[in-house]
Amino acid sequence: MKILGFLGSPRLNGNCSKLLRKALDGAESAGAETKVFELINYNIMDCRGCCNCFLNNPDLLIGECSLKDDVASILEEYIKADGYLFASPVYDVYVTALMKRFLERKIALTYRVPDSGTIMPFSRVPANFKKKASMIVTGNCSDEYSEEMGGPCYEAMEGHLMVEQVDTIDKLYVGSVETITGESFSERMNTAYQMGIRLVKEVEKARKE
Ligand SMILES: Cc1cc2nc3c(=O)[nH]c(=O)nc-3n(C[C@H](O)[C@H](O)[C@H](O)COP(=O)(O)O)c2cc1C
Repeated sequence: MKILGFLGSPRLNGNCSKLLRKALDGAESAGAETKVFELINYNIMDCRGCCNCFLNNPDLLIGECSLKDDVASILEEYIKADGYLFASPVYDVYVTALMKRFLERKIALTYRVPDSGTIMPFSRVPANFKKKASMIVTGNCSDEYSEEMGGPCYEAMEGHLMVEQVDTIDKLYVGSVETITGESFSERMNTAYQMGIRLVKEVEKARKE
C-alpha cells in the first residue's frame, strides 16, 4: 500500500512538515510505503484555464496539459497511490497559494463531456471510495477557531476528492503554533501518528468490502 503526503508549507521543517511526517510514520508502522511531496520543491505552474485537460480524450488517465512542468509526473504517482495526507498552514484564512496551485492542477484527473449539459466533471480514474485521505492544517489562531481557520482549508483540499471518489477520514487542526508548548505539540504529533495508522486501516477495510 502506498500513502502519499503533500506538504503545502514552504517551510520544510515547520509545523505542517513535522505533523505530516509523523502521520506518515504512523502509516509506515501500519505497513504502508510512503512518500512526501514537498510542493515548494516542484515546478507547479498556474492553471491557465484552457480546460484542454478535461475536455479532451476521456480515455487518458491524466488529461493533456499544455503546461510542461512537474505536475504530470506527480499526478502519475497520485493515481497509483492508495491514500493521501494533505498538510497546509492557514494563510489568510485558506490553504497556501502553493497548495491551491497544486489542487487546481488536479483538474487534469477529471474530464467533462463537451456539450453534455453538466458542469460536473467525471473522474478519469474513479477510486470507488477504496482510497482514503486525511488532512492536517496549522494556524496561529487558537484551537477555538479550528472551524473558521480549518474549515475553508479542508474544503479546498476535499473539493477534488469528491469527484475522484476518495473519502476523507480525519481532519486535524493545530492552532496557536507560535505559542504552543512542547508538551501540547507532542500530543498533537501523537494524534497525527494515529491518523496515519487509521488511514491505512481504513484503506484495508474498504478493500475488503
Ligand atoms: C502569509 C501568512 C498568512 C497567515 N494567515 C493566517 C491566518 O489567516 N490564520 C491563522 O491562524 N494563521 C495564519 N498564519 C500563520 C500560519 O498559519 C502559521 O504560522 C502556520 O502554522 C505555519 O505553518 P508551517 O510551520 O508549517 O509553515 C499566516 C502566516 C502567514 C505567513
